[in-house]
Amino acid sequence: MSSMDGRTRGRVDGKVIIVTGAASGLGLADARRLVEEGAQVVMTDIDDRGADLAADLGAVFVHQDVADEASWPALMTQVESTFGRLDGLVNNAGIAPIATIESLTTDVWRKTMAIHLDGTFFGCRAAIPLMRTSGGGSIVNMSSTAALIGLASYLAYSTAKGGIRAMTKSIAIHCRQEGLGIRCNSIHPGSISTPMVHHALKELVGVDLMAEEDPEQTRRAMGIGEPLDVANMVLFLASDESKHMTGAELVIDNGDTVV
Ligand SMILES: NC(=O)c1ccc[n+]([C@@H]2O[C@H](COP(=O)([O-])OP(=O)(O)OC[C@H]3O[C@@H](n4cnc5c(N)ncnc54)[C@H](O)[C@@H]3O)[C@@H](O)[C@H]2O)c1
Repeated sequence: MSSMDGRTRGRVDGKVIIVTGAASGLGLADARRLVEEGAQVVMTDIDDRGADLAADLGAVFVHQDVADEASWPALMTQVESTFGRLDGLVNNAGIAPIATIESLTTDVWRKTMAIHLDGTFFGCRAAIPLMRTSGGGSIVNMSSTAALIGLASYLAYSTAKGGIRAMTKSIAIHCRQEGLGIRCNSIHPGSISTPMVHHALKELVGVDLMAEEDPEQTRRAMGIGEPLDVANMVLFLASDESKHMTGAELVIDNGDTVV
């Protein structure tokens, strides 16, 4: 779209948006797409390779463990002092340990809940006051189709993703009741080609996707999506194009959960 001054405007022009877990996979694709469409993006991760990736994109990198409660108010203080506002938060950081009800350890259960559930809760709670003073905002919580169907090999993961789905709707209704102008939606991808899924393919079906002669062709043949498929949905939810949407759960799975 062009403005009166002839400058091309992006779909999230001028918005300040935090993306967690942005040093890899979906978070990195989200950050790239948001920057392309004019946002000022703050990428956070425990993996400091995110610093170079952020510099390449023209984004800011902050080292953060989303399960660390104290990291969140510190992040909001940094964002406010750097940009003076916050318009979007993409709670994307995650792990996907492979374990069933019979093999899952208590430590792995607690770590999975800490990153997904504590991390998403801390993030939403910390972001809302700054979004409120910025005039509103959009929170995007990364859930999964694992929240919608049973997955024997991902007991902790699917439980946590189901919690994120319910948390999202409760936050959405609270923000609507309070008239905060803050929207909160969840995204539910099926299998998308990222390091997380490459690891799962090796462990569960013995396929080393990245070692295939033509990984893209194999990816398509296996019905696996690409990170851009999810990043385009994140962009839409972060933009004002979705201004009438809150509490929604958006499935991106090539129809896997409806067959
Ligand atoms: N790839 C898929 O098919 C798929 C499907 C559904 C949902 N998801 C969800 O999308 C999100 C991103 O997954 P991905 O596939 O890009 O995985 P990925 O492993 O490629 O990336 C995950 C990122 O999260 C970071 N991270 C892990 N623990 C963290 C913590 N405590 N604090 C901050 N950062 C942390 C990692 O360092 C990594 O950079 C996850 O929440 C995942 O559950 C992925």
